[in-house]
Amino acid sequence: MTAKVLVTHPLVEGALELLERHYEVVVGDGLRGAGLREALVGVEALLPLLTVPVDAETIAGADRLRVIANHAVGYDNIDLEAARGRGIWVTNTPGVLTEATADLTWAALLALVRRVVEGDVLVRAGRFTGWEPTMLLGVGLQDKTLGVVGFGKIGRAVALRAAGFGTRVIFTDTACQPGSLVDLGPISARCVALEELLRQADIVTLHTPLTDETHHLINEERLAWMRPGAYLVNTSRGPVVDEEALVRCLAAGRLGGAALDVFEREPALAPGLAELDNVVLLPHVGSATRETRLAMARLAAENIHAVLQGREPPTPVVRPAKD
Ligand code: DGY
Repeated sequence: MTAKVLVTHPLVEGALELLERHYEVVVGDGLRGAGLREALVGVEALLPLLTVPVDAETIAGADRLRVIANHAVGYDNIDLEAARGRGIWVTNTPGVLTEATADLTWAALLALVRRVVEGDVLVRAGRFTGWEPTMLLGVGLQDKTLGVVGFGKIGRAVALRAAGFGTRVIFTDTACQPGSLVDLGPISARCVALEELLRQADIVTLHTPLTDETHHLINEERLAWMRPGAYLVNTSRGPVVDEEALVRCLAAGRLGGAALDVFEREPALAPGLAELDNVVLLPHVGSATRETRLAMARLAAENIHAVLQGREPPTPVVRPAKD
């Protein structure tokens, strides 16, 4: 009998060729909750987006499920313990979105410090009446300090790009010894404790996964450690930042501004955030290039194909307890 694969949302063209050659593939139009639970009956492989909660209840009802291949590098939407306990593989898509996400981080960072969005709004509103020496003054990046929180693949790729702007890099990560240096070729980065990073950096950029430990990592107290006028960039997961505390801090003029590609209660925004001028707000597009989205979907498909063929998937997150 041909195995059944459930894809919760339509994906980019060409993404499912491999699966369609081998399996019965059903593509939902945004399945989640009860609809997802119902559609999962008899399904052996699930390909969800990061926005689809795959919780213990969903996993418990999935009678034939062998693999959950998340279409994302993050996997905080999945109950990993429930999957492990039911003998289900969980996989993600690391590596293929590193460069796109690092590029977007710098796009957001540059837009923030050089006030690109404010400039666009001003021109469209017909308020550009000619060059002025003091119009929309931003902040230069040369000799400034970038603080990278989370020094995995994406954090490192972001750090590497700092070389082109003459910006120093410090970083923090659970896996580094404060004081140690990491040589990235064109640039070296020094590991420091989180408090030191927040106190020293002119721009702080977040690249941690969302876990119990990183939930509200940037809270009221830690925002207060940041330098007056410093900037915060978040292209990781919204709940890493206490968004309401951030709004209070920005509204009080304590920080220079924030660029956010992710939100705590995505797609909702904390009250007051959209009214602030010193923020750049993006709709979670860190990995949104044609090439990257195709590569993410294909990697998810390869993970499914491997498990259904009885092989180890290329990028596992969870090995089943009883495979
Ligand atoms: C991920 O993959 O986790 C990103 O947030 C979306 O590409």
